[in-house]
Amino acid sequence: MNAPLQGHTASNLNTTAFDTVLEVDRVSLEYRTPQRVVRATHEVSFEVDRSDRFVLLGPSGCGKSTLLKAVAGFIEPVAGSIRLDGQTVREPGPDRIVVFQEFDQLPPWKTVKQNVMFPLLASRTLGRREAEARALHYLEKVGLAAFADAYPHTLSGGMKARVAIARALAMQPKILLMDEPFAALDALTRRKMQEELLELWDEVRFTLLFVTHSIEEALVVGNRILLLSPHPGRVRAEVGAHAFDLHSLGGADFQQAALRIHQLLFEGRTEDAGAELAFQDVRLAY
Ligand SMILES: Nc1ncnc2c1ncn2[C@@H]1O[C@H](COP(=O)(O)OP(=O)(O)OP(=O)(O)O)[C@@H](O)[C@H]1O
Ligand SMILES: [Mg+2]
Repeated sequence: MNAPLQGHTASNLNTTAFDTVLEVDRVSLEYRTPQRVVRATHEVSFEVDRSDRFVLLGPSGCGKSTLLKAVAGFIEPVAGSIRLDGQTVREPGPDRIVVFQEFDQLPPWKTVKQNVMFPLLASRTLGRREAEARALHYLEKVGLAAFADAYPHTLSGGMKARVAIARALAMQPKILLMDEPFAALDALTRRKMQEELLELWDEVRFTLLFVTHSIEEALVVGNRILLLSPHPGRVRAEVGAHAFDLHSLGGADFQQAALRIHQLLFEGRTEDAGAELAFQDVRLAY
């Protein structure tokens, strides 16, 4: 965990440790169909600091994906505001890249390298030569340099996941948005991907907003976890999870933390939770 800061965050070296990148301020999100209005989140607030691995955790339907889409700029809040580096988010932009669960998001007619280059070229971020160099750099980081000229259908699920991550990181976004990126993978590959994501973070120190409905995955991947209650999603609590990583799996502290999060999410036990939890910081919303 002592890897020096490298890569695209080098310019952030002079910034303070708690430099806020994303501010989500009392955001309510709705879907309007001809029949009815569905409120997906209600007055959700949180802040993501630079190099955070911030996890949105909550049961199915609590609005996690909707929140991510709003941060990405695909959905406009009906109330509240979303600011990235102080600028209100109004539309999608190359400073926010989303990695989804489905890896068929990789066009099959492009090679791995072309897939990684594509957003760099389409957004006119780089010329062809620089885009190619950047693509190869990030493919190397995810261990796929040897597959640069392969086509997606020849890759395993885990390899496709790595391509999607390399493609996102190559854009050097201000924040990387991941919506259950490993949910479609088998348990072993999923664990391996979590491990690789943490290694990659150790090296590049990108800012991550990660959605999952797995308590275990939230504890492993995140340094901070926002717990959301269902229908519509509201903030139930925020917990610090920096004490845990893949090595903590199965340990007593880890099990205890998972159980407490479960209670906070599903039994609404918010009183005294701060005292009971082994977390360094627990902030309760209600
Ligand atoms: N396109 C849509 N039109 C209408 N309602 C929608 C739409 N997409 C989502 N919803 C509703 O908004 C709410 C939040 O959905 P969302 O997909 O954000 O949940 P989620 O927390 O990501 O769930 P999951 O863990 O199952 O992915 C749900 O009640 C859902 O039914
Ligand atoms: Mg979802």
